Amino acid sequence: MRQPFIAGNWKMYKTAAEAAALASALASALKGESGTKVMVAPPFTALQAVREALRGSRILLGAQNACTELEGAHTGEISLRMLRDAGVSLVILGHSERRHLYGETDALVNRKVRLALAEGFEVILCVGETLEERQGGITEKVVEAQTAAGLASVAGKDLARVTIAYEPVWAIGTGKNATPQDADAVHRFIRGVLAQLYDESAARGMTIQYGGSVKADNIRDLMKMENIDGALVGGASLKADTFLQIVQFDR
Ligand code: PGA
Repeated sequence: MRQPFIAGNWKMYKTAAEAAALASALASALKGESGTKVMVAPPFTALQAVREALRGSRILLGAQNACTELEGAHTGEISLRMLRDAGVSLVILGHSERRHLYGETDALVNRKVRLALAEGFEVILCVGETLEERQGGITEKVVEAQTAAGLASVAGKDLARVTIAYEPVWAIGTGKNATPQDADAVHRFIRGVLAQLYDESAARGMTIQYGGSVKADNIRDLMKMENIDGALVGGASLKADTFLQIVQFDR
């Protein structure tokens, strides 16, 4: 009942021309297919070029981050108003690289989530534990805190526009991924947290993506799991053939 959702996070890779070439290849390969929701999030400087390349395609244009304010003296930031102008409909917020390399706190991520929802965007809220936290046995505590804080003051009616991405930090870009069973256990736990925060039916309806070294050869086993509804893909989203194999996991 939950539509599969595969998202590509291109991180700090690709010039505008390179990004447009990848987007065009994806758009033509996915023409006419509609079973799985698909999004790509290029770097900001490539948004316009990718928007052009995706014209007429059902692939959604995403952004990798957004500022907590719509405009103002915020040197180096990009606002949701600018992102809307660039054709973006969905933003990734609270990615672990933002949290750990750039010090984003739960409170900051929550401000971004609330503003993005108020501005009509869809949001992918990323949560996930570090290796140290997993080894310390506090994975559940960490993802529960990040989920609850990230969604603080978010109304139940807005949840349909929120996707949670569970991305264990130790699995991102490392080639080490959680086993489908381990990932599913955390997804089930997050669904329980959502049921506590909202209600059972809201929790059942929510899309929870897995992220962290998702590849063509592990996507099928991940997607077989009851609570895994899609993937947030980094490295393997940078080439059309590897990303397409993930998007077309059900073929
Ligand atoms: P990865 O990145 O697929 O390269 O591990 C995932 C992510 O950071 O979203």
